[in-house]
Amino acid sequence: MTATADLLAKGERHYLPIYRQRAMVLARGQGARVWDTDGRDYVDFAAGIAVNAFGHCDPDLVAALTAQAGLLWHTSNVFHSEPPLRLAEELVEASGFAERVFLCNSGAEANEAAIKLARRHAAAQGRGPERRVILTFRGSFHGRTLATVTATAQPKYQEGFEPLPGGFRYVDFNDVEAARAAFAGGDVCAVLVEPIQGEGGVMPAAPGFLAELRALCDAHGALLMLDEIQAGMGRTGRLFAHEHDGVRPDVVTLAKALGAGFPIGAMLVAPGPAQSLGFGAHGTTFGGNPLAAAVARVALAKLRAPALMDDVAARGETLRAALAGLAEEFGLIGAIRGRGLMLGAVLAPAWRGRAGEILDHAAGHGLLMLQAGPDVLRFVPPLNLTEEELADGLARLRAALASFVATTAGG
Ligand SMILES: Cc1ncc(COP(=O)(O)O)c(C=O)c1O
Repeated sequence: MTATADLLAKGERHYLPIYRQRAMVLARGQGARVWDTDGRDYVDFAAGIAVNAFGHCDPDLVAALTAQAGLLWHTSNVFHSEPPLRLAEELVEASGFAERVFLCNSGAEANEAAIKLARRHAAAQGRGPERRVILTFRGSFHGRTLATVTATAQPKYQEGFEPLPGGFRYVDFNDVEAARAAFAGGDVCAVLVEPIQGEGGVMPAAPGFLAELRALCDAHGALLMLDEIQAGMGRTGRLFAHEHDGVRPDVVTLAKALGAGFPIGAMLVAPGPAQSLGFGAHGTTFGGNPLAAAVARVALAKLRAPALMDDVAARGETLRAALAGLAEEFGLIGAIRGRGLMLGAVLAPAWRGRAGEILDHAAGHGLLMLQAGPDVLRFVPPLNLTEEELADGLARLRAALASFVATTAGG
């Protein structure tokens, strides 16, 4: 057995079968390129899942991690250490709306904290449990813990995990009338919404939708909580995705690109609700870990550089135009949507359901990419990918689409 086959067999034997990894073992990366254990190279249009904002082995991030590794790894939240103290201040300052920050380890954990905060905030306002409903949207994705999977208004993530926690209500995304109706009973204490639904198919909030939600929240004393775990931290060409919409949130959750590949999550909270979780109300052992915070500080400083955001917008336009060209050439793609370097190519009706097969062809042609459901190809490359890496990745994508079309019959 080759070394790679031996490694793959270990996964087959010992992992819970909850993922469907492709038959390769990634060994190292540099920028937007990755190599597997057999020495094959790939262009990385996935960046984890919209995580590695600066690709692989960015020297600034490596330096931050290794410097901190020689100083202090972990202290618990019983004691202070410097990196998370500084990161909290920098996040508050960058946000323009938040007063306080809760640091944690993942996206689901950040959303779980937001759900708990919304409930406590409502309780502090004298609302009974029956008036602490959290509104979320069909097609959303908020995580895999029991509360966040319940917030995730997609049955496929919930089936078999019942009984689910109560107090969530779902409406169609971008349906203002439905949102209004959902508020009518006066029992909604918070809205949790992605400015661009990621897993749900790279679906942006329609112009004005977030502003309508803001107005509804204001009218009903509810919190507007934005899940920017995938769309935030520069992915759309602005540090926060909601900047495009000009809305002021009460809560924003972050993870993924905040640590640019090192696990970290955060909940940013505006002044009023920031008082709702007091001493002992919440916590997490590893939250604010000095290693994660040291990396995130450098990632955040790099993400705040206006030149990078300009590059994201420009690369996004190049990618969008190239996808439009491929759509015309192969007839596989019906629509392209998203913002900046978070783009989705929706498969044309005859090819619906076949995104996974296209990804197999892409991997075979040296391109790592993602789907967002069965009908959408998702493009979330490193934010700093070079023009050359982008061109190389697009050439591989073209070859992959050609081989897919050649070897498969359309619907
Ligand atoms: C919008 C959004 N929220 C929450 C999550 C969950 O994050 P994590 O997998 O870090 O728990 C994800 C992950 O894909 C996400 O895209």
